[in-house]
Amino acid sequence: MARPRPLCSAFLALVLTLACVHASFQDDFDIVWGISHGVWGSGRSRIGRRLLTRDLSMDEIFRYWQKMYGKWPTDVYETHLTDYRNHVARSGREFGIPRNDQEFLDLYYYLRNRTEVPRAVGWTPERERCAPGCYLHGTCNQELGRCDCPRGRQGPDCSEPLATSCREFCQHDGQCHRVIREWCINECNDRGSCVGGFCHCWPGYFGTDCSLSVDYEGKEPNSNGPNTTVLLAGQGYRPNPRGPKIYVYEFPPQYHVWSLLWLDRPLNIILWERLMSLGLRTVNPEEADYFFLPGCGRGCNKWDQKFKYIMEHYAKYWNRRNGRDHLMTHAGDWGRCEKAWGPDSAPFIANLTMLNHWGITVDRSQETEHDLFNACHIPDQDIQVPVLCGDLYPQFEHNVWHPKRRAHPVNKTVLASVAGSICGWNSAEEPPCKNKYYSFGVRAALWTTLRDKPGFHIAKRVPVLGQSMAESEFCFAPTGAGHGKRQVVSVTLGCMPVIISDHVAQPFEPFLDWNDFGVWIAEADLPDVEAILRGFTPQQKAAKMKKLYCAARHVAYTTVFGGLFDGDTGEYDAIATIFNILRVRLRHPGVPDHELMKMDQDFADFMACKPGSPRASGLVAGAAAPPAPPLPNAASNARYKDSIDAKAFPHRTVTTAAWIKAVAGTGAATTQQVQPSTDTAAMIPGPLCAFNGHWVAYASFDTPGNPSAELGNAHRAQGQCMPKNANRPGNFPPGGSITCPPIGPITECAVLV
Ligand SMILES: *[C@@H]1O[C@H](CO)[C@@H](O)[C@H](O)[C@H]1NC(C)=O
Ligand SMILES: *[C@@H]1O[C@H](CO)[C@@H](O)[C@H](O)[C@H]1NC(C)=O
Ligand SMILES: *[C@@H]1O[C@H](CO)[C@@H](O)[C@H](O)[C@H]1NC(C)=O
Ligand SMILES: *[C@@H]1O[C@H](CO)[C@@H](O)[C@H](O)[C@H]1NC(C)=O
Repeated sequence: MARPRPLCSAFLALVLTLACVHASFQDDFDIVWGISHGVWGSGRSRIGRRLLTRDLSMDEIFRYWQKMYGKWPTDVYETHLTDYRNHVARSGREFGIPRNDQEFLDLYYYLRNRTEVPRAVGWTPERERCAPGCYLHGTCNQELGRCDCPRGRQGPDCSEPLATSCREFCQHDGQCHRVIREWCINECNDRGSCVGGFCHCWPGYFGTDCSLSVDYEGKEPNSNGPNTTVLLAGQGYRPNPRGPKIYVYEFPPQYHVWSLLWLDRPLNIILWERLMSLGLRTVNPEEADYFFLPGCGRGCNKWDQKFKYIMEHYAKYWNRRNGRDHLMTHAGDWGRCEKAWGPDSAPFIANLTMLNHWGITVDRSQETEHDLFNACHIPDQDIQVPVLCGDLYPQFEHNVWHPKRRAHPVNKTVLASVAGSICGWNSAEEPPCKNKYYSFGVRAALWTTLRDKPGFHIAKRVPVLGQSMAESEFCFAPTGAGHGKRQVVSVTLGCMPVIISDHVAQPFEPFLDWNDFGVWIAEADLPDVEAILRGFTPQQKAAKMKKLYCAARHVAYTTVFGGLFDGDTGEYDAIATIFNILRVRLRHPGVPDHELMKMDQDFADFMACKPGSPRASGLVAGAAAPPAPPLPNAASNARYKDSIDAKAFPHRTVTTAAWIKAVAGTGAATTQQVQPSTDTAAMIPGPLCAFNGHWVAYASFDTPGNPSAELGNAHRAQGQCMPKNANRPGNFPPGGSITCPPIGPITECAVLV
């Protein structure tokens, strides 16, 4: 298996920073736990979840528990603490950092057993469908009669210790932080305590995030009848009438949450949480349009066991469409090609719909001498989704459409730039590079040919990447070791991306046309890059910039991490785009992706960032330019002639020197003057944080129970919509969205129309 690499190089720095923060414990404590006091006037609230980079001591766990759940009078707290210290001493251990899962659980159960917790409505120990007492040490899945245990326990009631190791479940040694509030899905919906990623639900609640319970009377609003499972009972869960309806498998916890699920990249977590808060989850597999596989493609997820489990219990649903309606995420550099699963899983994974970042569609492994450059992306089946880049959020403030730009417009002083390693990940090497595979040699070629040319800025490093890119008209967006992130970063910052990667599908292709708001150049035309980029007229560039604003709203996860663009509502963001692609595929089964925009006006309008009722598109009028040529499929090597791309991306175009010349001849330069690129006139008026559950263009349910104005106002004060430290794995509340209230049910998050 490929060694996982951090997505964004800031990650390592971040880990070190957090790891070093322990000098001032009391100050740090609340930050680590994501608790703040008095901010929302409620005494306690969440400010986002953090990656914890060290194990906590027993003392720290005690204090944490007291704050979150115990709330004992001081004397009771002191008694418990002394009692537990004695208990540890009697067993010949040290009162320090728990050394393994058993020691951690010993403390955890001690605390939990002395804490009164609420129960699900109607639940009594007699109604428990698992072995008696399961609820004391684990969570009884009332629907399946299965007692789910935290890592380190087993047996019909989770009372038996089980030796578990970090190596088996956590991918890396030394990253097995046995903490309570590690990071649980939807923070257990405040219906349980988070034990190392596992939700130990209050009695009667169940599911990975405790969102499920039995509707004993059949009186819940979305009930399927007495004694059936219901979602978020009493919290106002409203299924989104436009769907899609998604069934989420409740795998045994040892198949996913015993591992560090969020390790590396949080795409799966965000979608898992967000599809709940968007009202897309259904507990009835019969009515499901899609099936979501929790757990990421990379890491120590037990994929063989998961598929075995599906075929044992849900084969009917898998077989319905041979698994095509099953959704899996893979955020790794090489997506499907990483094969972090056993041979038993391979035939299943081959059939499902993968949400990935690595868009390579033909096998270029021979040419690049790297075995991960196979055809890793399957067009019309997989969805090429943008990289999250939560860690770059502070940099994204430099984007040309940011509200700050009204007073301080960005002056684009550089024609084209790129900054980053040239020859290999995090390497200072310069061409000639040892590796042929790194970015298909494109970074090396740019370095060699353009570094000294006026107007170009080709560097290994720049002080502020966001500023550097925003000040460039064009930004090269080469791939890296596998997928790159620069096309997303560039678009988000308002720099026209230059794609030079043959046979690599770009995010949301074919629904986004990257040669329309950016420039796609065939690898074989690398020598013409300068001529092409210099050849665009100001009018052509302005037209691309207008389309770029829409593309930016599609590729950025603004409803997850926060608003970025003046006048944006978040309604077209990456999350909305993913679910709208799933919707349009449902509306037109069997239709290839590249025909969907033609067949479905709603979807075409959505992709063009037009609201339901058409409004001025802001496109530039002028003499019609000759159509851009299609991407030559044999651009870099005759081997790829007639490749799958010809069929899957028939509308993909490139820009060539010949086209630039032909366009210059049409007199396009004399057509009407267009607005400068940073003009916001064509944009929807509205403040930056429009999607706070209050004004929300994003939500338009007219059913009662919409988030109140007070909540909306309290939720995101002006200027607070964008988290200042949106580091990986992401600083967003439960529910997977910045639109979710910091405390309170995820049913109050903004929803998708
Ligand atoms: C503590 O454990 C005992 C049995 O081990 C159980 O009867 C009791 O209900 C537990 N208390 C709580 C609050 O969970
Ligand atoms: C629900 O289940 C309980 C026992 O599990 C049973 O006594 C009751 O009759 C059931 N209710 C209905 C309406 O089926
Ligand atoms: C995958 O899909 C094909 C049909 O496209 C089917 O024949 C095959 O059985 C499926 N494999 C699995 C594991 O479902
Ligand atoms: C951009 O140029 C204008 C006009 O020359 C100037 O007033 C402004 O300060 C410049 N903006 C920045 C960010 O340098």
